[in-house]
Amino acid sequence: MKTLGCAVIGTGYFGAELARIIQEQQGATVVAVYDPEHGKTIAAELGCDVENSLSALCSRTDVDAVIVATPNYLHREPVLEAARHGKHVFCEKPIALSYEECDEMVQACKKHNVIFMAGHVMNFFKGVRKAKQLIKEGQIGEVIYCHSARNGWEEAQEQVSWKKIKAKSGGHLYHHIHELDCIQFIMGPAQTVTMTGGNLVHSGPSFGDEEDLLLLSLEFGNGTYALCEYGSAFRWPEHYILIQGTMGAIKLDMCNVGMTLKRADGSEEHFLVHESKEEDDDRTRIYHGLEMDGAIMYGKPGKKPPMWLHSIMRNEMRFFVDVLQGAPVSDEYTQLLNGEAARSAIATADAAMISLQENRKVSVQEIRAKEGRQ
Ligand SMILES: NC(=O)c1ccc[n+]([C@@H]2O[C@H](COP(=O)([O-])OP(=O)(O)OC[C@H]3O[C@@H](n4cnc5c(N)ncnc54)[C@H](O)[C@@H]3O)[C@@H](O)[C@H]2O)c1
Repeated sequence: MKTLGCAVIGTGYFGAELARIIQEQQGATVVAVYDPEHGKTIAAELGCDVENSLSALCSRTDVDAVIVATPNYLHREPVLEAARHGKHVFCEKPIALSYEECDEMVQACKKHNVIFMAGHVMNFFKGVRKAKQLIKEGQIGEVIYCHSARNGWEEAQEQVSWKKIKAKSGGHLYHHIHELDCIQFIMGPAQTVTMTGGNLVHSGPSFGDEEDLLLLSLEFGNGTYALCEYGSAFRWPEHYILIQGTMGAIKLDMCNVGMTLKRADGSEEHFLVHESKEEDDDRTRIYHGLEMDGAIMYGKPGKKPPMWLHSIMRNEMRFFVDVLQGAPVSDEYTQLLNGEAARSAIATADAAMISLQENRKVSVQEIRAKEGRQ
């Protein structure tokens, strides 16, 4: 089998680690990177080339696939350029900060007959996969409600990261699109959305301009619901997805890390969220220590992801390489590759933002009606 030539665009915190992981994969190698600020460092570490423009990188004949890990507001251009040059694409989350851009990126990959994979990494958590399997087996009956929380407290920042600026990150909702994606994988696409919240106590030069409290309510049109809380105005930190069924419930706890299945008879069964007890415990330690910054543990160039995150990134990259090498895709992952996970997450997030701005319940169809208009 031919070794897959990969290129990474944006080699800060996440892109550099994705490059290291690709380099370790059988059947794939990193041939070049492009990042005007941090490209040289990782290229020296991996022994690959550094390109000085997007088009130089995408024109290389030894590049089969491109991994896009630039800041959120800069995903569009590299994805379109890669697609134009016939390169397969893996794009980090959130795919875009608007449905129009997301749709344009998915359509471009379709038009040029290349794979587009959405970097929705929660789908590669051992616990998330187990929860989906338990639901499929009917262990908790019909799922009627999900509740997610990704909450903490943000202290004053010495330097305000792009991750805190709405125009660059989209704010908590887009930057942490994981829960919205995961819940829609479990419950299907949301039909209507209501969101309230605002920036309650984090304004001024030591903070970005994102809302620090968002309360999002989702209706699925079939008598099922979800509620998502996001933000950095919560002195009581929590990070979980709670899945309520008619015969039981599942809690995926990412703060006191572990997964619990509670059955109707009151019995409980416990599972790992990550690959090992050591990884789950290390994430718990991080959440309860002082390594968090701005409510969430944000990385920056030069920093290495913790072991639990490294493992799921490895699962995700292994999957991407296998797909490009022709491995069959199970139903579990189809949506990550046909544009639907990307579209669904961003459409719902856009509807939520309109709801917040216009103080009304918004139909996701209002957003999705824009599909294919580029
Ligand atoms: N899936 C996850 O859990 C997860 C975790 C962290 C980050 N991410 C995503 O990865 C992406 C990168 O985040 P990060 O934490 O690595 O940020 P970062 O700030 O550490 O790195 C971004 C890098 O992009 C480079 N860059 C900026 N503009 C560029 C351009 N036009 N072309 C090429 N490179 C450019 C910067 O120099 C920097 O090195 C974001 O989309 C983020 O949401 C995902």
